[in-house]
Amino acid sequence: MSAKPKVWIARKLSDATLERAARDYDAIINMDDGLSSADEIVAMSAKVDAIIPCHSEHFTEDVANRLDPRLKIIANHSVGVDHCNLPALKARGIAVTNTPDVLSDATAEIAMLLMLGAARHAVKGDHLVRSGQWDFWSPSFMVGKQVTGARLGIIGMGRVGQAFARKARGFDMEIHYYNRSRLDPGSEAGATFHETIESLLAVSDFLSLHCPATPETTGLMNAERLAQLPAGAILINTARGALVDEAALLEALADGHLAAAGLDCFVKEPGGNPAFAEHQNIFMLPHIGSATTRTRDAMGFRALDNLDAFFRGDTPKDLL
Ligand code: DGY
Repeated sequence: MSAKPKVWIARKLSDATLERAARDYDAIINMDDGLSSADEIVAMSAKVDAIIPCHSEHFTEDVANRLDPRLKIIANHSVGVDHCNLPALKARGIAVTNTPDVLSDATAEIAMLLMLGAARHAVKGDHLVRSGQWDFWSPSFMVGKQVTGARLGIIGMGRVGQAFARKARGFDMEIHYYNRSRLDPGSEAGATFHETIESLLAVSDFLSLHCPATPETTGLMNAERLAQLPAGAILINTARGALVDEAALLEALADGHLAAAGLDCFVKEPGGNPAFAEHQNIFMLPHIGSATTRTRDAMGFRALDNLDAFFRGDTPKDLL
């Protein structure tokens, strides 16, 4: 029997994933779960046939050019692949896959949590009660923005955007979207397509971002676009921090044009933006959109399914 392919699992994935990987592959597992530097990634590439990284491992052009020819496939444990320079990896003949579909509902749940929490002052309310400072109640106390029946704008109507739209329908929201291409009328399910981002922004009481980070979408929500949202709008971002100009967002919140923001991702991760900490109308989470037990198992299994197909000689389902 031929030797099992050697795989480096660059982060501590779910128990079920690691069990399956250890059974089917000659697996080197980063049980310490620390981040790897560019040099460490390059060094590992000489020891393995495949790597399963997360979005935290960066395959820049420089790294791609230095990877050892032994490495044949990068089977990402993420749907986003902005941490991978795809043209450079392709030029090196390295296959790259991702894990779409399986995290859409979990990520849409976090978008819903952020939308509700930002609209109803979750940060401030939790802080008041927790710190023992809740000594007042009045009808004008902590009055927020109602989600039910409000207009929701979605930029990026892919799998996560559509999952979020389905959940938002449960709140009777009026759903609008902008996408590079219009969905089939059958899958729009009552959502209104906008030909331009500007036209979408004008009707978005809540705006939720669900597009990938690319050179074209970096800084998508800049000062000019934030100003095009209706006064009192709320911005939700569960996609990538790079989509938002964070300084412009702070200004739009400080001058009161935006009522609040709900953010699960930041330009700098881990860590986030320290300037956001002073604003109780920013509801923040540490990039946990896909962090449920079921979804993390599904992501791990999807990455392994892609590896299995590749080493069987088939085309992996999620080959990019
Ligand atoms: C993804 O899959 O892209 C999520 O951001 C988590 O990594």
